[in-house]
This record gives sequence, C-alpha cells and structure tokens, in this order.
Amino acid sequence: MSKIISGFSKRTKDEKINWLATNYFPNQPEIKATLKQYWNTDIAIQQLHDDFIENTISNFYLPYGLAPNFIINNREYAIPMVIEESSVVAAASLVAKFWSTRGGFKAQVISTTKIGQVHFMYEGDKNELITYFNSKKENLKLATASITKNMEKRGGGILDIELIDKTEKLARYYQLHITFETVDSMGANFINSCLEAIAKEFRNDEIEIVMSILSNYVPECLVRAEVSCTIEELGGDAPQKFAEKFYQAVQIASIEPYRAVTHNKGIMNGIDAVVLATGNDFRAVEAGVHAYASRSGQYTSLTHCDISNGVFRFWIEVPLALGTVGGLTSLHPLAKLSLEMLQKPSAKELMMIVATAGLAQNFGALRALITNGIQHGHMKMHLMNILYQLGANDAEKKEIVRCFDGNTVTHSAVVDKFNELRNNN
Ligand code: MEV
Repeated sequence: MSKIISGFSKRTKDEKINWLATNYFPNQPEIKATLKQYWNTDIAIQQLHDDFIENTISNFYLPYGLAPNFIINNREYAIPMVIEESSVVAAASLVAKFWSTRGGFKAQVISTTKIGQVHFMYEGDKNELITYFNSKKENLKLATASITKNMEKRGGGILDIELIDKTEKLARYYQLHITFETVDSMGANFINSCLEAIAKEFRNDEIEIVMSILSNYVPECLVRAEVSCTIEELGGDAPQKFAEKFYQAVQIASIEPYRAVTHNKGIMNGIDAVVLATGNDFRAVEAGVHAYASRSGQYTSLTHCDISNGVFRFWIEVPLALGTVGGLTSLHPLAKLSLEMLQKPSAKELMMIVATAGLAQNFGALRALITNGIQHGHMKMHLMNILYQLGANDAEKKEIVRCFDGNTVTHSAVVDKFNELRNNN
C-alpha cells in the first residue's frame, strides 16, 4: 500500500506520530513513546520548538558543552559548543588553556560585506541593457527603501549594484550583483527581500528574471585569528622538532586536497559547534567556508603556519556570515544564553570568537596527530561509549579501562572482556 499522504501538515502532532508508527513501524509501537520522551515538559518551550520548522514530531538533542579559558584580544571567554563528537570540547579547552599563558588568541575582522544576485536572461543589445541599468540604478535602490530603512539606521544597507555580463559562460545570462552590509544580523531575509524588490523594479518585457537570492559565498566577510610564541615557549621535550612537524602538517594540508578536507573538517568541528550554539546557520557557513578553501581552483588548508626567526605563528583566515540579532539568536533560549555567555558580542566579535574556536581545534588536532596520534584520546571515549551500551557497572568500567590501557580498543575485544568479567562473577 502506498504511503503517499495529502494534508499531512494539517494533522496534529499525535496524529502525525500515529501515522508514522502505523505506516513505517507497524511492529514497533514503542517508537511513539521514544519520540514523546523527548518532548519538553514545559509546554511553552515545546511550542517554540514545534514552530521552528514544519511537521515537528519531537526534539533531537545534541550535547551543549563548554570550553573555558579562551583569551581573545585580551578578553576572557567561556565558549559554548554544540556537538555530538567526543574529544572536540576537551581539545578546545586544553588548547585554550595552553595559549592562555602564551598571549592568548589575537583576532581581527578583515571585511564584512555580503553578496546577493538577481539572475536574469536578456537577448537584446548589450549597450541598451547597460543604458537601461544606468537609468534604473537609483530606482532600484529606492524600491528597497522600506526594507533598508531600519538597516540603514544601524549602519548597514545596500553598498553597490553592478550589472555583470555572464554571456560568455551561458548564453543570454546576466546578473545584478549586489553588495550588502548587514551589521549585526546574518542578513539572509533582509538580502532576499531587497533582491526581490530590486528584481521587480528591474524586470521589463525583454528581461526575464530567473531568480533572486543571496550568495552563501562570502569571501569579503572575512576574519583572521592567530596565535604566536617563541618556539621555546611551545614547551615539551623538543619544541623545535614539534614546530617543524607542525609546520609540515600544515604544508601537507596546503598542497594535498585529501588531507586538506580532513584538516578543514577538524577546523569545522570547532566552527560549527559555536555556530550551532549561537543559533547561526551552520550550512551557510559550511558552504561558504569550503568554497573559500577552493578559491584558487584547488581545495586547500584554511590555516597557515610560519616558523621563522625562532617564532611559531599559526593562523586562520575564514569567511563567516554570522548574526547576533534576528533569526534563532533571540528565539532559541539556549542560543540567547550562548550569546549572553559570550558577553553579547557584535557580529564582528562573534566572527572572531568562531574563527578562534576553529583555529584552536586545528591546533589540538595537529598537536595530537604529530605526537601521540589521534586515536589515543578518541579510544578512551570510544571505550566508554561501548561500556555504556553494554550497561557496564562502575567496577566493570574501572577494570575494563585498566585492561585496555595502552591496548587497541575494538568493539569485539571490549565485548569479550565484558562477558568474561560477567561470567566470572
Ligand atoms: C576528527 O573529527 C577531526 C580530525 O580528523 C581532524 C584532522 O585530522 O586534522 C582529527
């Protein structure tokens, strides 16, 4: 029997769950309770979550962790991180502490502009189009006046509108390429509303508007974060060797895309976790960051390292379109709390915090990779997760952790050890 359904969105939450259970879990009535156990007991909070998206049937929890000890531009921060992967928050905290005694992180926003485009088709004479565009340019701005009024009061708005000829790549294809400053908001709704108003004003019998939408590629909304210290200050048994290996690891990620993707994935562990905790759009950030990493035509590292004149320098440059007002930032109670924890940052300050989290994560990953290897830390967490799944008690956990100290953790080896312990007791 087909499961295609009409009017699903109009059903109540209970009806939606019943439909799901009947159609997709006919022999598992317990799934209803599983879904409902994640409903918030506070009706207002649940209603809020129900209303974030459509067809909500439950909530999906992710851990909300805290990485203290960050010093960024001489200011102390405890950074909230939402992530399901073990070791990430621990690494961020350790690295923050490490750099807190070496001058902390220094960050600066390089640029803050965002882009939106009206994509259209035009068959006629190009010079006539240019004349039409020039005659319309002021009106295009005026058409957005009611939308841009408040943004302009806050120091933002439309910075420029350009006509771009793309016909060499695609027949008849032109764009209005529009630059925006959106101050403390991420600006997606603002930009899209402006674009639609501009498109409406611009269209005529010869101009066929295809679509109007912001771009998530924001290479001119760029932030840099950096750490540096003398090579001696890196500490450990062989700081020079450590610095050289670290430098090599970054060089490898610069020229080898297979490594660069994993290297940058580690950076995104830090970036996404803070982006999520502050109610920002991590898909937009991900898309923009990876496009930026490929801007030369080859995918490359987002971080850079230099070890000249006895000084170790490690930095990141990354595009981040973030907001600290609007969207989920004030609607989601935990996103609001995250921003309060970060001392109510401006969007620029949040860019610096997020870039720092990415840099810290990369430092932690590379430090582990070039010394003990990444599995060292991961395996303990992996072991604890397996023991949790097996329902091991405290004594069993202690004994099994002792057995695997220095030994490779595999699921089957842990299960064998667990069974052995249980059978002997
Ligand atoms: C794992 O989530 C991230 C790392 O693979 C990053 C890296 O290899 O640099 C550890």
